[in-house]
Amino acid sequence: MVANSASLALLLLLTLIRLLLCFAAHGFLLSGSSLSVEDVLHSPDGTFTCGFYRISPNASTFSIWFSSSSEKTVVWSANPLHPVYTWGSKVELKSDGRMVLRDYAGQVVWSNNVSSSSDAQQAQLLDTGNLIVRGKGGNILWQSFDSPTDTLLPTQSITAATKLVSSNRLLDPGRYSFRFDDQYLLSLFHDEKNISFIYWPNPSITIWSKLRTPFNSTTDGVLDSWGHFLGSDNATFTAADWGPGIVRRLTLDYDGNLRLYSLGNADGEWSVTWMAFPQLCKVRGLCGQNGICVYTPVPACSCAPGYEVTDPSDRSKGCSPSFNLSCDGQKVKFVELRRTDFVGYDLSVHRSVPVEFCENVCLNDCRCKGFAYLDGVGDCYPKSVLHGGLTISDSTTTITMYLKLPDEVEVSMSSIAHSQPFGPKNGPRCNTTDSFFIADFLDTLNSGQSVSKFLYFYGFLSAIFLAELMFVSLGWFLLRREAQQLRGVWPAEAGYELIAKHFRRYTYKELVSATRKFKDELGRGASGIVYKGVLKDNRVVAVKKLVCVNEGEEEFQHELSVISRIYHTNLVRVWGFCSDGPHRILVSEFVENGSLDRILFDDEGSQDLLGWSQRFGIAVGVAKGLAYLHHECSEWVIHCDMKPENILLGENMEPKIADFGLAKLLNRDGSNKDVSRIRGTRGYLAPEWLYSLPITAKVDVYSFGVVLLELLKGARVSELGQEEEEDVKMALGRVIRLCSEQLRSDGGNQSWIADFIDTRLNGHFNNSQARMMMELAISCLEEDRARRPTMECVVQKLVSVDDASTI
Ligand SMILES: *[C@@H]1O[C@H](CO)[C@@H](O)[C@H](O)[C@H]1NC(C)=O
Ligand SMILES: *[C@@H]1O[C@H](CO)[C@@H](O)[C@H](O)[C@H]1NC(C)=O
Ligand SMILES: *[C@@H]1O[C@H](CO)[C@@H](O)[C@H](O)[C@H]1NC(C)=O
Ligand SMILES: *[C@@H]1O[C@H](CO)[C@@H](O)[C@H](O)[C@H]1NC(C)=O
Ligand SMILES: *[C@@H]1O[C@H](CO)[C@@H](O)[C@H](O)[C@H]1NC(C)=O
Ligand SMILES: *[C@@H]1O[C@H](CO)[C@@H](O)[C@H](O)[C@H]1NC(C)=O
Ligand SMILES: *[C@@H]1O[C@H](CO)[C@@H](O)[C@H](O)[C@H]1NC(C)=O
Repeated sequence: MVANSASLALLLLLTLIRLLLCFAAHGFLLSGSSLSVEDVLHSPDGTFTCGFYRISPNASTFSIWFSSSSEKTVVWSANPLHPVYTWGSKVELKSDGRMVLRDYAGQVVWSNNVSSSSDAQQAQLLDTGNLIVRGKGGNILWQSFDSPTDTLLPTQSITAATKLVSSNRLLDPGRYSFRFDDQYLLSLFHDEKNISFIYWPNPSITIWSKLRTPFNSTTDGVLDSWGHFLGSDNATFTAADWGPGIVRRLTLDYDGNLRLYSLGNADGEWSVTWMAFPQLCKVRGLCGQNGICVYTPVPACSCAPGYEVTDPSDRSKGCSPSFNLSCDGQKVKFVELRRTDFVGYDLSVHRSVPVEFCENVCLNDCRCKGFAYLDGVGDCYPKSVLHGGLTISDSTTTITMYLKLPDEVEVSMSSIAHSQPFGPKNGPRCNTTDSFFIADFLDTLNSGQSVSKFLYFYGFLSAIFLAELMFVSLGWFLLRREAQQLRGVWPAEAGYELIAKHFRRYTYKELVSATRKFKDELGRGASGIVYKGVLKDNRVVAVKKLVCVNEGEEEFQHELSVISRIYHTNLVRVWGFCSDGPHRILVSEFVENGSLDRILFDDEGSQDLLGWSQRFGIAVGVAKGLAYLHHECSEWVIHCDMKPENILLGENMEPKIADFGLAKLLNRDGSNKDVSRIRGTRGYLAPEWLYSLPITAKVDVYSFGVVLLELLKGARVSELGQEEEEDVKMALGRVIRLCSEQLRSDGGNQSWIADFIDTRLNGHFNNSQARMMMELAISCLEEDRARRPTMECVVQKLVSVDDASTI
């Protein structure tokens, strides 16, 4: 018995010691101790983990990554260029503050750069994702935030001394960097061997129109915890889901695009909330010389006709001519590439000239490889180098590239690359991919480079174990296998994939069977009738048969290519479309709780009454969705028909805007003076519609103001009128005047607000939120559109009074 309890006590003690040791190993690294492959450090709140990250089964880097993303996302690496053999490598914290990474054989691979040599106490991973080495007094001797790799975390500064460099999944550095330029402007650089050029912000516009401030020597840029970035040069951008409590990162991806990501709590997937280039092909240098970037729909490289791929494993090396062009009176011809442009390298510029003039300029200049010509305008740009080629998906451009080729070079029409927003399978030109070479920007392992990178790592192994030759060949074999596993994965393109992945074209037959011959009608609107359907993969969808589509097939597809790229939690997800003969049909996500008007204006079913927090949530969500449409998308999208009928409510009453992106298709543009054809209830229409003024995003701001009033009042504005004959417009004007007077003169006494708010709420509402909604409604409903706020500004104001998001 005694022996038993003694051993029990011993066991307890041992467990306790082990627990303590565990804590020490997981919380921080004490000076004098080391971290091996099995150990990791966690940040106190568990967001980040620091340890050895396996880039392949046997090779690792000392890195920091997000603990909860579904795929390990590395935010910092000590030794991206020199991965170590995983087994037996160690990171040690020395008493002088140096952290040293040693490989299997004890060789130092990386060491941090401590500025002072005072005594170090411990290394610790903070909740911000910053790995710091603390000295005795608690001062910071070194921090990983000072040497970023390709990612900037909230609160981490980018300064003149630091830069982000793009890298692929193997952490191989790429050709793009994000840093301050010589005017102290934060810019994206394309770095070639002996030349580097800026491609963002747009180098062809002046500093002033970039809204930047040059020569501020503070050189500092920070992403704050709400998702707003501000640089000392006034570089600013804001996440689409602006607000606190969201895990974010700003990463310069391998494709040269700078993207801001948010982590989804539920699925651990990243979604893009801002990007420098919504259209990836506009990143310069992606396809090298003589290469053209096309959308397939995923951006990919092709060669200009008459040119061949230089290096299939690296498309940025571009294409080489398969002909010789001499200046000795050789017969040449011009091949027309519609909606294609090459950037820069203009030999000269001629304005308002006929195309024949431009041809002659190019013919008479030996250096000329071709010219870009703007139809209609008559601008002519002969080019000495064909670089930065891209096809423009926007159908309004009239730019055409004329390539100068020897007469004998055969160019078949099918060898000319076209952007196919719907992919070669669904696009109209099904077999063109056979005739020219297209490769996605795969994140492939370039074997030449990787060998040098891995040589070090296999090199020392061989010294220990076997003859060098044998291991190098084994290394080759392993490398090839690892390369194959990685092929086809392009993490950098995640943002684009997210948007384009599920978008496809459906046949009419498919939709007939999905909707069981259009049996289950969900609703009718001015733009068409909506039916419920179930796709073959069991997805429940809403199928909308559009009426009055007055555009041809190509325009329709173009508009849809815009819609397909739009993705936001507060917008109804469009899964695809059908354009079969006379049928124009949209297939979108099915949203459970129907439209807002049914619940908000329902007098009888009081059990479905929308509570205050739900109403406020709807206001915030709709504002975020509209802000995204107006500012974040690749092309500006104006909804033009905002009203409760077009706000659908999801499972948890979260709002989703429907029917966006149809404005151009449904003949509602500003030039249309026939007011009766303008859709929507009169009450929601901004004055611009009636006065035939140009239509801007501010018409949606106006309609949103009306929706805000309706959310507050729980009734349609059309019912605001006191007498039968009072016009909606006049009633609205009266209510606004009344409210703005009260807001100005109430001196903080808010009792009058209660009188305005839906009586069904029985006074259960949040005063400051209601006041803010009222103020916003009034400013959104300004007659002068210039005085209405932008949706982005509306979101910021609403979020500022959102108590769900105050920390
Ligand atoms: C990793 O290395 C071990 C021994 O060094 C070897 O047996 C194993 O096959 C390697 N695994 C891979 C996937 O390279
Ligand atoms: C270490 O820091 C010093 C000064 O802070 C700098 O001059 C030196 O280049 C740095 N060394 C490395 C390897 O970063
Ligand atoms: C860059 O260097 C290569 C040779 O290394 C040379 O051919 C090329 O002209 C150089 N480019 C510029 C812009 O200096
Ligand atoms: C700074 O940027 C903001 C937003 O882009 C702009 O409104 C403001 O005018 C800019 N300031 C300067 C000095 O360019
Ligand atoms: C320079 O940038 C800093 C930090 O953003 C700012 O506080 C300061 O006002 C700026 N100076 C000028 C002259 O714009
Ligand atoms: C171009 O000229 C070079 C040298 O004059 C020659 O080797 C090559 O075969 C020629 N290429 C073509 C396609 O005629
Ligand atoms: C496309 O080309 C392939 C082979 O070149 C052929 O088998 C296929 O039938 C073609 N598809 C169409 C739709 O023409």
